[in-house]
Amino acid sequence: KVTPVILCGGSGTRLWPRSRAAKPKPFLPLVGSNTLFEATVARCADPARFAAPMVVTGKAHLAHVEAQLGPDGGEIIVEPCPRNTAAAIALAALRLPEEAVMLVCPSDHHIADPAAFVAAAAAAAELAAQDWLVSFGIEARAPETGFGYLKRGEPIGAGPGSRVAQFVEKPDLARARQFLASGDYAWNGGIFAFRAGFFLSELARHRPDIAAAARAAAAGGQKAGGQKAAGQGAGAQFHPDAAAFAAIRSESVDYAVMEHTDRAAMVPADMGWSDIGNWEALHAARPRDADGNHVSGPAELIDCRNVLVDSDGPRVNVIGLEHVMIVVDKGEILVTTAAGAQQVGKLHGAANQ
Ligand code: GDD
Ligand code: MG
Repeated sequence: KVTPVILCGGSGTRLWPRSRAAKPKPFLPLVGSNTLFEATVARCADPARFAAPMVVTGKAHLAHVEAQLGPDGGEIIVEPCPRNTAAAIALAALRLPEEAVMLVCPSDHHIADPAAFVAAAAAAAELAAQDWLVSFGIEARAPETGFGYLKRGEPIGAGPGSRVAQFVEKPDLARARQFLASGDYAWNGGIFAFRAGFFLSELARHRPDIAAAARAAAAGGQKAGGQKAAGQGAGAQFHPDAAAFAAIRSESVDYAVMEHTDRAAMVPADMGWSDIGNWEALHAARPRDADGNHVSGPAELIDCRNVLVDSDGPRVNVIGLEHVMIVVDKGEILVTTAAGAQQVGKLHGAANQ
């Protein structure tokens, strides 16, 4: 069975004012009635395929995780401070048996087709068991500079997987355009399958400092609390040694390992994936009427096209607008064009949330 390792990291600014530092994106019901975190757990809920999910999160978000994880959750690793994904994944790997295949899942994405996700996870797990570090490849649709790019290499075996000939994290716009035009690259979906022991050996090879520091943080850590007996089953927590953890260099797994390893592989994943990076992307992931409008909360729209209204109380009345997003949340109002949605993080309210 595959062990889901769900990452809940820091808070973003681009879905402000709905997403706030105290309750960020993963813990909000942004698409449908489940939160993104709950949906991530639910995608890996089939007990025939998946072991109990492990969660890696910060102290600040522990209460949300405990409230939303449900009764079948596994160990929660509580980070004393954020040290990015290489450290988070290393801690999870150190808490698992070497032979365990881990499926690393960000908790802030939307996946419209969970069955396609499960199929891709099965293919990825098979390769991970053969000591490949496996990424999920998403068909690239735009020259995004916030993603990693995977160059498709030779096929591996008879399945859908292939080698990754080149992994480039967050290229500049000129390179992203080249990659898109070449047709040889997929986006890295940020979902990975690794055998725990093999991930740690590749981390030790490429970033021995991070590997050693993570090992010290795990060795000095303590089990704690939870609804059930400490260290057992749902609600059990593991707290890495705070000083040792803080000493880990902050780096993402993409830069620390994936760009350097010669064992990178990918499985194609056509699963309606979106990282819902801003309000425009969220609008696209939500149901829309024939005019492309989406309304949550009280509102009246006349002669509007591709307008999103999301209000937590006040009635929003809009006439004659196109490609505009209006969000009302706890006394803050955001009005932006689709193009402006990229810049929400620059607002003082979003930056100082
Ligand atoms: N527990 C924990 N601790 N989780 C973290 C931390 C941390 O310190 N830092 C980030 N995360 C979580 C985030 O919450 C998110 O779920 C996931 O790890 C990825 O981190 P991001 O910060 O969102 O990464 P990114 O979006 O810049 O890039 C990654 O994802 C892209 C796809 O969305 C990379 O893997 C890219 O290559 C990829 O294209
Ligand atoms: Mg992200």
